[in-house]
Amino acid sequence: MRRPLVIGNWKMKLGLAQSLNLARDLKRRVASLHSETELMVCPSTPFLLPVMEALQGSPIGVGAQDLVSQEPGAFTGGVSAEQLREVGVSCCIIGHSERRQFFGDTDEVVAAKLRAALRVDLLPVVCFGESEETRLQGKTETFIAGQIHAALDGLDPVQVKQLVLAYEPIWAIGTGKSAMPDDAEAVHGLMRSILQESFSTETAASVRILYGGSVTPANIASYMEREDIDGALVGGASLEAESFLQIVQFR
Ligand code: PGA
Repeated sequence: MRRPLVIGNWKMKLGLAQSLNLARDLKRRVASLHSETELMVCPSTPFLLPVMEALQGSPIGVGAQDLVSQEPGAFTGGVSAEQLREVGVSCCIIGHSERRQFFGDTDEVVAAKLRAALRVDLLPVVCFGESEETRLQGKTETFIAGQIHAALDGLDPVQVKQLVLAYEPIWAIGTGKSAMPDDAEAVHGLMRSILQESFSTETAASVRILYGGSVTPANIASYMEREDIDGALVGGASLEAESFLQIVQFR
């Protein structure tokens, strides 16, 4: 079965001291936690190594928030999948709506980034989500299907099995307006059926699909009880150890 996975996305919100304090706090508290949930946090790039050092000996994985798709070379400012792999990063968020919105990550760029992660066996956490406008037009499912096909078409089932997908409706991110669990489950079900049709039943059954968008300790259980929701990508509520670990212990 699919092991639950909760990932904290610290975005560009914490400085070095705050990142280290949070990491140490998580490490201390997680020691007494009995949970089968897999746990990862994604600090800002300059803090990846110190945060990994602070979390050494704990079961918490460390991921990056982005990468560039190019192989190492003359790409000033870029951080490659190979470089992330070299420092021991466990996963990388790819195609977050903030990257798509503010940094021009198109569907093509997202497809290339996810292939770069696969090239070095870095776990890609690939994000999809519709805008408020698309939702109000009743076009959520068509839009999400389009994004998924753009990212995954051309991969083989073995590669797709190595992915984690995340459904993150843009209107729910950082707004406190979390999706209704029924609505989220409908999109997760659609995502899984696309995996089944495009790849295989086995692939569809094994890929973890996370929900993201104003997840809190108060609403996490209502998502996790749904069949096709396998965990959460958490922004705001991951910035404090207390709320993040309450989410991890959703039962
Ligand atoms: P939020 O962010 O939990 O603050 O809504 C989620 C995300 O952007 O991954």
